[in-house]
Amino acid sequence: MKALQTMVMSVSVRTAGALCCAAVVSCAQHEATAPAGTSSGPPAIRYEAHISAGGQLPAGAGLNNPVLQDPAATKNGETLFSAMNCDGCHGGGGTGWVGPSLADGRWRYGGADEEIFTSIYFGRPKGMPAFGGTISPTAIWSIVKYIKSLPPPPNAPTESWED
Ligand code: HEC
Repeated sequence: MKALQTMVMSVSVRTAGALCCAAVVSCAQHEATAPAGTSSGPPAIRYEAHISAGGQLPAGAGLNNPVLQDPAATKNGETLFSAMNCDGCHGGGGTGWVGPSLADGRWRYGGADEEIFTSIYFGRPKGMPAFGGTISPTAIWSIVKYIKSLPPPPNAPTESWED
């Protein structure tokens, strides 16, 4: 009886698994047939800072910071950083609060200009809102320049493991 129960259970688990697979497949098919222009995924971007297999960067657009040489951009970025409430989550000077520190040189999604831009423009899944529809790309690039200018803190909290 026990064996039968186990068998029935394992069959129903397998059926559930198959149903689950079918749902995923039908979803994937749905996405593949969605009309062009409705995809919400970010476009393919070539990240210069990434090391690609075979040394070949995959096809995609490159992103360069157009305000890199503009001396006023850092200050504009600083103003925007509090005006857009970045500091409400990332703390004053980007030193970290409920959002991660942007000054400690540690990056989950990469610290190259184009990667920081992508984080801000498209948002990131664990609580980072997308600002692409709220502020202009030039404004985002100014914030990127400001973030890159932030001095690293004397004590990064995750340094303790080195002791
Ligand atoms: C509502 C809170 C919130 C606001 C407002 C916010 N952030 Fe974030 N941000 C987060 C969280 C949480 C993460 C971590 C997301 C993750 O790990 O997926 C994050 C991640 C990031 C990252 C990626 C960090 C990494 O390690 O790669 C950058 C860059 C960033 N935010 C910049 C900004 C800027 C610039 C602004 C203002 C325009 C801003 N954030 C506003 C919460 C916020």
